[in-house]
Amino acid sequence: MTLTIGVDVGGTKVAGGVVDDTGAVLVQVRRDTPAEDVGKTRDVIIEVVTELAAGRTIDAVGIGAAGWIDASRSTVLFAPNLAWRDEPLRQYVSDAVGLPVIVENDGNVAAWAEFRHGAARDAEDSMVMFTIGTGVGGGIVLGGELVRGAHGIAAELGHMLTVPDGHQCGCGRLGCIEQYASGNALVRFARAGARQEPHRATALLHLAGGEAEAITGPMVTAAAQGGDPVSSEAFAQIGRWLGTSLADMAQILDPQVLVVGGGVIDAGDLLLGPTRRSFADALAQRRRLPVADIRPAELGNSAGVIGAADLARRR
Ligand code: BGC
Ligand code: NA
Ligand code: ZN
Repeated sequence: MTLTIGVDVGGTKVAGGVVDDTGAVLVQVRRDTPAEDVGKTRDVIIEVVTELAAGRTIDAVGIGAAGWIDASRSTVLFAPNLAWRDEPLRQYVSDAVGLPVIVENDGNVAAWAEFRHGAARDAEDSMVMFTIGTGVGGGIVLGGELVRGAHGIAAELGHMLTVPDGHQCGCGRLGCIEQYASGNALVRFARAGARQEPHRATALLHLAGGEAEAITGPMVTAAAQGGDPVSSEAFAQIGRWLGTSLADMAQILDPQVLVVGGGVIDAGDLLLGPTRRSFADALAQRRRLPVADIRPAELGNSAGVIGAADLARRR
């Protein structure tokens, strides 16, 4: 039995785990991400790996990071929502821990985990996943392999154009899907709704202490589940945008399975209902033809750890 370590570096948490070859996570560690400070983020990653590796024989380390990674899976070239710019993360971590390391995009590792062990494990060889968090991530599996592109930066699904001349995105472009279907977008829609129609957001505003600006994603989920109209509509809005992007992926790649992941899927049909409807509308012309179904991710918080560890094993 070989053990590898997977680390998932997100905007708020660094999660690490020791994973066996069946995809089971044997031990987990979580720390806050010092997101504004690249050096400290690197130190936290090294601490997490060192703690997990102590007293165990570890084969390799995989790191999933929220950014654009070079083709040799070594350097974070750019991160729209974090401070990384040309960060040679693989070198730093492998020098510090003395193990082989690979760095991979966080959306790619989550998709890989769902393909191997999660919602798309029955897919023969193709799937596409969207991860909805601070940003919108993506991963594409074709022919049983992750699609990494010529430069390592394929499957940046969050930066597909959705609204021409729309909101400014962290990548520099206007109107990316990340600005309309991310966790941040959900909160923006909910805050705007609560300001415009407070009488339709009483439950949500109650959770936020009466302050629209204090509304967070988990509050929107809780209020929507209790029937708060503004909160439900915020989910419907991100679902509508997401459905059209999923339809584009079906048009381009025709994968066996489409997966949506991230904390927002806790809202269940409040999100997936509108997503599936807009997906079906966008594909109305090909109504009688077969198309992938849209499934919620199954591995939750652990997807990044499991996928990164598996990719490290297969390096
Ligand atoms: C980044 C991706 C990342 C995604 C989710 C996007 O803004 O461009 O690299 O996968 O956020 O973290
Ligand atoms: Na990706
Ligand atoms: Zn963008």
